[in-house]
Amino acid sequence: MKKKIGLIGIGNRPFPKNFKNSNWDGWIENLKHSNDFKIVSISDNNIEQLDKFRKKSDIKNIKLYTSTNKMLNENKMDAVIICSPAKNHLKDIKICLKKNIKILIEKPCVQTVKQAKEIISLKKNNLISVVQNWRFKDNSIIIKKNLDKKKIGRIGQIFFRYLRNREKIKYSNYIYKEKYPTLYAMGSHHIDLFRFILQDEITKVHCLSFKPFWSKYKYDTSQSVLLITKKGTYISYTTTFSSKNEDIAQESMIIEGKKGYIYNDSDWFEPPVFLFKKKKIELTKHIKKAFRSIRAQNNISDKRILNNFAKFVNNEKSDHTKFIDSVRSIAVLEAIIKSVKLKKMVIVEKI
Ligand SMILES: NC(=O)c1ccc[n+]([C@@H]2O[C@H](COP(=O)([O-])OP(=O)(O)OC[C@H]3O[C@@H](n4cnc5c(N)ncnc54)[C@H](O)[C@@H]3O)[C@@H](O)[C@H]2O)c1
Repeated sequence: MKKKIGLIGIGNRPFPKNFKNSNWDGWIENLKHSNDFKIVSISDNNIEQLDKFRKKSDIKNIKLYTSTNKMLNENKMDAVIICSPAKNHLKDIKICLKKNIKILIEKPCVQTVKQAKEIISLKKNNLISVVQNWRFKDNSIIIKKNLDKKKIGRIGQIFFRYLRNREKIKYSNYIYKEKYPTLYAMGSHHIDLFRFILQDEITKVHCLSFKPFWSKYKYDTSQSVLLITKKGTYISYTTTFSSKNEDIAQESMIIEGKKGYIYNDSDWFEPPVFLFKKKKIELTKHIKKAFRSIRAQNNISDKRILNNFAKFVNNEKSDHTKFIDSVRSIAVLEAIIKSVKLKKMVIVEKI
């Protein structure tokens, strides 16, 4: 029997505003085709969002609420997906944990290590799974496999640069006021990706932070970070939301090992990935053209996450991202910000 699932927050991530041009199908569309879950209810504190859903969605018999508490009190559910803005995650997680419901929460799972500790102190964080979707794209899985097999030897350094023009698009107003927006929105993917593919922990960070004069964001949008791992890999991470870039790859990564290197240039971490060791080979050549697009890769990743979450809800062995694992990436983000403030290298708090 399908498990009953609810959604908290029905914005662009679960229910894309412009479905045709979206970079993903979203949780609603994925759940619609799921053999594991049936959506029973949705809460969103903005009644206009709920009205929009009611008018646009072809899924019927879903109860809609402006209060998550009311939704949880009136419906028996096996699981929820929390897609509210990050500033509300702590509150939303706590409400769901009170009901002992299994949670799939969007990244960043919480905003601070302090918030994470508050959750951990409730001793129910084993009910939480986190959407770390960069981990589940084809590139990450293939790169991790090659690094696990030591195909390029011990890793010495990684160079990753992210050049996004997020100045020209109109988002919800709160987006422009978020602290360190590039780090929390994208660093929460990238930092997690480094930890995942290397199977290593980042222990020290040193960061310089700034924004160009044309930026309309309140806080710095650009960072230049040195990350050092426990096993001694140096990661040079340069990131910005204020790039003028319109035509070159947003993301560019090179992982350098003693025996060779692996690299990818793409917008949202799509194939191709190449390995160079005496000669260049494509590690992703088996992936068909139809599965190489931004949208296809996001959907593949979301499906993998949902399949793992279904296993997690059914108490089966799964590769879901545990809360504590995800919080380790938040601890790195926090250390980066501390480094900006203290103007020196900072040790990452151990979680
Ligand atoms: N994994 C990814 O690739 C990815 C991509 C985009 C966004 N996200 C994450 O998904 C989450 C949502 O992002 P979005 O782009 O959909 O945001 P959004 O602003 O489009 O939508 C948020 C929705 O939540 C509602 N809301 C706010 N507080 C609420 C609360 N306490 N309870 C219920 N509903 C509430 C708002 O009314 C709005 O409809 C964020 O955590 C974001 O970081 C992840």
